[in-house]
Amino acid sequence: MAQMHLPKRVKIVEVGPRDGLQNEKETIAADVKVELVDRLTLAGFPNIEAASFVSPKWVPQMATSAEVMQRIQRKPGVVYSALVPNMKGFEAALAARVDEVVIFGAASEAFSQKNINCSIAQSIDRFADVARATKEHGLRLRAAVSCAFGCPYQGEVPLAAVVDVVGRLRELGCDEIDIADTIGVATPNQAHQVMDRVAREFPIAGLSGHFHDTYGQALANIYASLECGITIFHASVAGLGGCPYAKGATGNVATEDVLYLMQGLGIETGIDLDQVVDAGQFISAALGRRAISRAGNAIAAKRAS
Ligand code: HMG
Ligand code: MG
Repeated sequence: MAQMHLPKRVKIVEVGPRDGLQNEKETIAADVKVELVDRLTLAGFPNIEAASFVSPKWVPQMATSAEVMQRIQRKPGVVYSALVPNMKGFEAALAARVDEVVIFGAASEAFSQKNINCSIAQSIDRFADVARATKEHGLRLRAAVSCAFGCPYQGEVPLAAVVDVVGRLRELGCDEIDIADTIGVATPNQAHQVMDRVAREFPIAGLSGHFHDTYGQALANIYASLECGITIFHASVAGLGGCPYAKGATGNVATEDVLYLMQGLGIETGIDLDQVVDAGQFISAALGRRAISRAGNAIAAKRAS
């Protein structure tokens, strides 16, 4: 049974097909991406970040996003999301029938420049157009706040900067806001502090924790966020990933590890861990490497013994 102070159910957003694959150097065939998304759909995720309609010059791996979105087998009720930096990306996302548009800003000026080639203020102006169009078409709108816990270029990021961006994104009408540890530097007290503070700016039911695991703190940060009442977490199957504009940062926390944690805490996710382990082994084999997920590898080893 879930402990009294923790939520009884959480939403896990699988970001592997986007955040997990975007940084891969070798081109991954669309077939592989489609099979990955389909496996994740069957595993029971309510929300899969499947694509990214950004400039292919900036992130070549995501250039097949339209094809992937067209070929996946959608399950009714599952939300398929895609990153959208500007109106050009929005038009492509709309044509690809995404369910949720994800605008992505930062709490750090330096990272905003490196990642999307504009200041935070300019990004909010661009996002305003995207937000308006998203709402006009009746789609869900989510926003990511990168570098909410630290920046690869400027180092510390003041909490006030995070609060400021969250407020501006709230005004754009976001349904959900992701508080992202892009470079995986946060530790649990900081996670507590940031989540508690942003929960005063935006309804807590719509806040998510997007933790990369660079320093091995992601599960601890998720636990701290659960204690704050956060009920949405992002994770990447097999621990794939890294941001092309955050050197050295590793992937998101591995989905298998998060699901194992939730199972142990008695927190429902509606997702079949065994099928996620299979999906993790599938994509790792396709990439020619061992999965990073501790729980995934342990479960796979136990099966083989
Ligand atoms: P720019 O060069 O300033 O854009 O890039 P521009 O408007 O000057 O256009 C330049 C060229 O790009 C033009 O083509 C445009 O048509 C094209 P050309 O005339 O030279 O042939 N272009 C596009 N093409 C396709 N789709 C588009 C698009 N927009 C312009 N949407 C831009 C600005 C934002 C486009 C660029 O910086 C970009 O694409 N950045 C994306 C970077 C990225 O994807 N980073 C990784 C995702 S963020 C992340 O991982 C963090 C997250 O996980 C949370 C966390 O962990 O922190 C979400
Ligand atoms: Mg990320």
